[in-house]
Amino acid sequence: MIMLLIENLCFRWPGQSGWQIDIPHFVVGEKEKVFLKGASGCGKSTLLGLIAGINTADSGSLQIQNTDLTMLKGAKRDAFRADNLGYIFQQFNLLPYLSVIDNVTLPCRFSSSRKARAGGDVQREAKRLLKALALPENCLNNPVTALSIGQQQRVAAARA
Ligand SMILES: Nc1ncnc2c1ncn2[C@@H]1O[C@H](COP(=O)(O)OP(=O)(O)OP(=O)(O)O)[C@@H](O)[C@H]1O
Ligand SMILES: [Mg+2]
Repeated sequence: MIMLLIENLCFRWPGQSGWQIDIPHFVVGEKEKVFLKGASGCGKSTLLGLIAGINTADSGSLQIQNTDLTMLKGAKRDAFRADNLGYIFQQFNLLPYLSVIDNVTLPCRFSSSRKARAGGDVQREAKRLLKALALPENCLNNPVTALSIGQQQRVAAARA
């Protein structure tokens, strides 16, 4: 029995260029276990959000057993999830209304000794840490909520 059937599924986050998800065909059978592996930011959580009915596809179909989630409207998708799916979310603890760089430099506003340890130039030290942690340079002034969870965890590491 087919548990999950994906056909031509495409999804793009607002403000991003290109598809974050573009899957021509993917099937998971009953009792099959799947390990999803990929670099941080490649789209794993986005795909899980689509399977859970939290994100809505731009095109294509995603069927769980015989229900096509892309055909269900909000409340019905929520009900379907409540009935049929379990989901463990990733965690993060950044301030959602601040940019990436402002999240990293924030503790220096509360502590002059921390600021001093940053070598005087807090912005420059924050950029150095974020670069060392492989955060894309073009995301530093974006809100942290526009990053993947793993990217957000690395912002939290830079802040720490
Ligand atoms: N809310 C959002 N708004 C805009 N872009 C987003 C949003 N969430 C994720 N993205 C972008 O979509 C891409 C995929 O993100 P996703 O969270 O699916 O990655 P992931 O594979 O789960 O990464 P990780 O291993 O770090 O958790 C990333 O490049 C990210 O910048
Ligand atoms: Mg993720």
